Amino acid sequence: GKGGYDHYMLKEIHSQPDALTDTLSGRVNPGDGGVAFESLPDGAFADVEQVRLVACGTSYHASLAGARLLRQAGIPAHAELASEFSLPESADDTLAVAVTQSGETADTLGAVRAAADAGAQTLAVTNVVGSTAARECDDALFIRAGPEIGVAATKTFTSQVATLSLLSRRIAADVGADAPGDAGILDGLDALPGDVRDVTTGDAARAIANRYRGSDAYFFIGRGAAHSVALEGALKFKEITYEHAEGFAAGELKHGPLALVTPDTPVFAIFTGDGDEQTLTNVEEVQSRGAPVVAVAPDGHPAVDVADDHLPIPDTVPTCASLLAAVQLQLLSYHAAELLDRAIDKPRNLAKSVTVQ
Ligand code: F6R
Repeated sequence: GKGGYDHYMLKEIHSQPDALTDTLSGRVNPGDGGVAFESLPDGAFADVEQVRLVACGTSYHASLAGARLLRQAGIPAHAELASEFSLPESADDTLAVAVTQSGETADTLGAVRAAADAGAQTLAVTNVVGSTAARECDDALFIRAGPEIGVAATKTFTSQVATLSLLSRRIAADVGADAPGDAGILDGLDALPGDVRDVTTGDAARAIANRYRGSDAYFFIGRGAAHSVALEGALKFKEITYEHAEGFAAGELKHGPLALVTPDTPVFAIFTGDGDEQTLTNVEEVQSRGAPVVAVAPDGHPAVDVADDHLPIPDTVPTCASLLAAVQLQLLSYHAAELLDRAIDKPRNLAKSVTVQ
């Protein structure tokens, strides 16, 4: 059942501390920070020279974060939309990672099958044990988020990114890469369930949703670790509110989208400690066109003084801060959709798992 919540989506947003605890449990050696996955033998990735993550929708946004972490750890990696995936005829130096909550998304299965045909090693990162992706790939890594009923992916997004954070460390160790990666990520992940609880027990998102209801459009911007969350914030918002929402790389605004910005288009600017000064410049650009800005940032961050409103997140490393911002934006979308009386758990035209290409 919904456990006392009005919607599965709200229940699932609030279950993220527990889901993340399960995702991470027993996978990090507290002594040396090494990562072990129950289903994967040691050295499983020793021959990998590059990683291609294939996914759709929210799982694609998680993949963008995963690819970024892999590159920071010194591994060539890219996230690609499964429906646009293509690769060279021979890909035997490649690990293709299908990131799919359901494990049944036809586009993602098609991409990972093509990768296998080209000789790539394949890995499913999925929530569903026994799913097609888990069965067909060489290996499977489970995100352990628990069943997700709401059509809008919430807890599976944060658990996917947490899993991919560990996977990037594991691949780096297997191939002997020695780049430092996202410093402090293990401490950040350790604190993440509690930090998420701080966000889900707050009430800022509801007030902001109410303040900006009836706007012409809603824009979300971020760079670095915040970029994928800007895209995800917009996808969640359009999906369940049916309002026009777009996510942009903060630096791209001035290359076109700025033409859309007016006093009736609130801009949610995400600050994760990763290129924040430049994003502040982008905030000033939209404010000078009259747009109200909501800073998604820790208390005391310089953006809070500049912005018109604030959605607070705990102060932590960029990847974890981006997940905390994602949770605030899930709550924002939820409350905006609730004010509009939308069918939150089953938005029009959408299905939980998309089994046609
Ligand atoms: C958005 C959403 C979809 C899915 C996409 C991929 O909230 O849920 O965008 O993320 O259809 O689904 P999976 O992860 O099952 O492959």
